Amino acid sequence: LGGVLLFSAGLFSNPPPGALAQDSKKHGTQGEALDFALLVDGLVAEREQGITIDVAYRFFATQRRKFIIADTPGHEQYTRNMVTGASTADLAIVLVNAQHGLLPQTRRHAFIAHLMGIRQVVLAINKMDMVGFDHARFHRISEDFEHFARDLNFSQITPIPLSALKGDNITERSGQMPWYRGPTLLGWLETVAIERQATAPFALPIQSVSRPTSDFRGFMGSVASGQVQPGDTVRVTRSGQTAQVRRLVTADGDLDTARQGDAITVTLDKEIDASRGDVLSLAQAPLQTSDQFEATLVWMHEDHGMVGRTYDLKLATQWAGATVTAIKHRVDIHHQLAHEAARQMDLNDMCVCNLALSKPIAFRPYGESQALGGFILVDRFTHATVAAGMLHHSLRRADNIHRQALSITREDRERLNGHPGKVIWFTGLSGSGKSTVANALEQALHQQGLRTYILDGDNVRHGLNRDLGFTDADRVENIRRVAEVARLMADAGLIVLTAFISPFRQERRMARELIGPSRFVEVFMDTPLAVCEQRDPKGLYQKARHGQLPNFTGIDSAYEPPEAADVTVPANADLSSTIQRLQTYCA
Ligand code: ADX
Repeated sequence: LGGVLLFSAGLFSNPPPGALAQDSKKHGTQGEALDFALLVDGLVAEREQGITIDVAYRFFATQRRKFIIADTPGHEQYTRNMVTGASTADLAIVLVNAQHGLLPQTRRHAFIAHLMGIRQVVLAINKMDMVGFDHARFHRISEDFEHFARDLNFSQITPIPLSALKGDNITERSGQMPWYRGPTLLGWLETVAIERQATAPFALPIQSVSRPTSDFRGFMGSVASGQVQPGDTVRVTRSGQTAQVRRLVTADGDLDTARQGDAITVTLDKEIDASRGDVLSLAQAPLQTSDQFEATLVWMHEDHGMVGRTYDLKLATQWAGATVTAIKHRVDIHHQLAHEAARQMDLNDMCVCNLALSKPIAFRPYGESQALGGFILVDRFTHATVAAGMLHHSLRRADNIHRQALSITREDRERLNGHPGKVIWFTGLSGSGKSTVANALEQALHQQGLRTYILDGDNVRHGLNRDLGFTDADRVENIRRVAEVARLMADAGLIVLTAFISPFRQERRMARELIGPSRFVEVFMDTPLAVCEQRDPKGLYQKARHGQLPNFTGIDSAYEPPEAADVTVPANADLSSTIQRLQTYCA
């Protein structure tokens, strides 16, 4: 449809007809007629698949308006592309085939538009020529859609009957549908009033601080919402410091008023402490901050999203660590947006989740400000974007739970014990020797007069973690809890030895950060699978090989060896020299 619009708007009044006609014959679905869809499907590879893979942004202008089309593929596996395209759109054109009526994908598209804050929808009911330009059919589909979309909060739904192929109601009224009195598609797009988002008060996430000369200091960024003028008093959200705006500098001179979307450099009447990641607001309309949120996540990566795993969150210019603490439900976009239970997030899933952040950030609900309520989650190892998020609200918990300041500190306890608290974190396959070495090490440390404790997989799984199995999600949660307990014990001044397979790098890194790198020693029991399998102390490998134990590490569940363990213990290492070596890390 994007192609038809471009064509009809005259952008391709002189299209490369040869190329298009050839393509249409080769790949098109329209016989001898030109297949306009091919115009927007840029890449050859994509054409050969018959689908568009990425978001193709196309620009065109008529005498009345300028347009950017974000043309996104409709297949379910491209939900993430749609989300990307929809995130910046003012209006969505939802395309329905008149022959088929509403399909699950129509609902999905409408839901994504809703989720991304689009309030205007054109329901483009296409291929009217294939249903004899039947008014009743058009009417029924429009009604079905309006019924479905009742809860989606659109301010306006405009159904238009079309035949994109023949050009009916695209730019010219159709002679075939005298019963239709509404606008043509392009006519509507040219005239519809575009609603800007509700006028949230001024916010400027600081992108960088500019200091070209010693007497000029400016805070640079794009206005996320609202407006600001010289003379206004602004506040730095994190520190609470205030100052008056002196100038709003842009590349084209100073502004009297800066509005949403303007890229500006703000200078103030006095020096305040603010840097990238801080957010300026009006002093009398400060931003909320919180470190616990409910949000909708759209999962965009093949790697599953899991409860307990920590990602990097970027909201405007702010970064924080973010852990998914609960998946409240998955939205079933095929069946009337029903809520389903979910234990992990798969590619293209949309889930309502709770998130806990490593530090408070300034925000607004996505419904009030896309710039301050929309965020992404990034994998900490690969730096791939794994999810897009729409923040709903802060969890009240965050405001009501405060840390209690304790009088006896870790240092006090360590002084009494005569040694620092530590965590010696063993990782390796089942049967690699973690428990054996940890046990021998504890004996040696105990004899040295050090205070110790062992957290061992098989034991902890009988108590604290007896509700957990061996799916990836359960292992992530297992390790999260163990890391938290180990931290408390190290805080109590103990030397904690943990013996868990802990198969994933992400969680071992999380444990290291949680406990503190200086008190964390990662020990990799580097025993090859073949050796572990031969030892098979509990007969589990044999069971797994016979298909009686699913998700067994090394067989049909992954183990990610450490890239830089503090200590690596080879399979044939001598036990007493290994213990001596490890003891040097414990004092
Ligand atoms: S972890 O992967 O979540 O770190 P953990 O160390 O707690 O695992 O538990 C591993 C122990 O559970 C193994 O030593 C083994 O005795 C037992 N076990 C039972 N089922 C499995 C399985 N599917 N995969 C690995 N270990 C299993």
